[in-house]
Amino acid sequence: MIGIKTEEEIAIMRENALMVSQTLAEVGKIIAPGVTTKELDSVAEKYIRSLGAEPGFLGYEGYPATLCTSINEVVVHGFPSDRKLKEGDIVSVDCGTKYRGFYGDSAYTFPVGKVSEGTKALLDATKASLYKGIEKAVAGGRIGDIGEAVQSYVESLGYGVVREMVGHGIGHNMHESPEVPNYGRHGHGVKLKDGMVICIEPMITAGRKEIYLDDNGWGIITADGKNAAHFELTVVVRKGTPEVLSTFEFIEKNK
Ligand code: MF3
Ligand code: CO
Repeated sequence: MIGIKTEEEIAIMRENALMVSQTLAEVGKIIAPGVTTKELDSVAEKYIRSLGAEPGFLGYEGYPATLCTSINEVVVHGFPSDRKLKEGDIVSVDCGTKYRGFYGDSAYTFPVGKVSEGTKALLDATKASLYKGIEKAVAGGRIGDIGEAVQSYVESLGYGVVREMVGHGIGHNMHESPEVPNYGRHGHGVKLKDGMVICIEPMITAGRKEIYLDDNGWGIITADGKNAAHFELTVVVRKGTPEVLSTFEFIEKNK
């Protein structure tokens, strides 16, 4: 049986998810042209520690920072650096916490200043695809139901779905079974059960879906150099209606 969590465990994971959600909003407040991604990282680390938690990514398999900050054609796992954000960029901010033995993990792609209509459409579609996937996180369904919902939505709009990187179960470990691809077929894959906790995280490309690995061994970059977007929430599979543990409400109420 794949990672069914008890309600006590889910309560701790709910706290992690809340802390991640609040941290993303703190970071979002300072995103503007001229700010470096290292500055974002520093705000996030201090904020997470102020809540009494620890950064979930720092040191994870050697990862060197609190956040993944992935600009434009970088899909995920970008290292925070001295590069300054500029007007029209998009930056995926992926954040994790560790608290009371459990992980939290969520991501949001922010526009920097004013972005083009096409870029805005990519962000909207990627976020909408995440919610399409979440709707399928119900007991009795299958992992493929989630992937198909994400894939059919974004492909109908002409976007690409990254294949090499997938969502995942989460708990005492950041990455647990099952894998949660953003593509697939309804009725296929692992059966979804009440109390499974998963991270759904569409990684969607404006152009072709192919990616390559950065020389630094982490960054995932679109092969055609076009933008990619990434949104992630932590969800409990439930009977009837999924329970979404993390939220973008703190980010979006700042807008
Ligand atoms: N949210 C990311 C993921 O699910 C976690 C980043 S991996 C790390 O892959 F190593 F940077 F922590
Ligand atoms: Co994740």
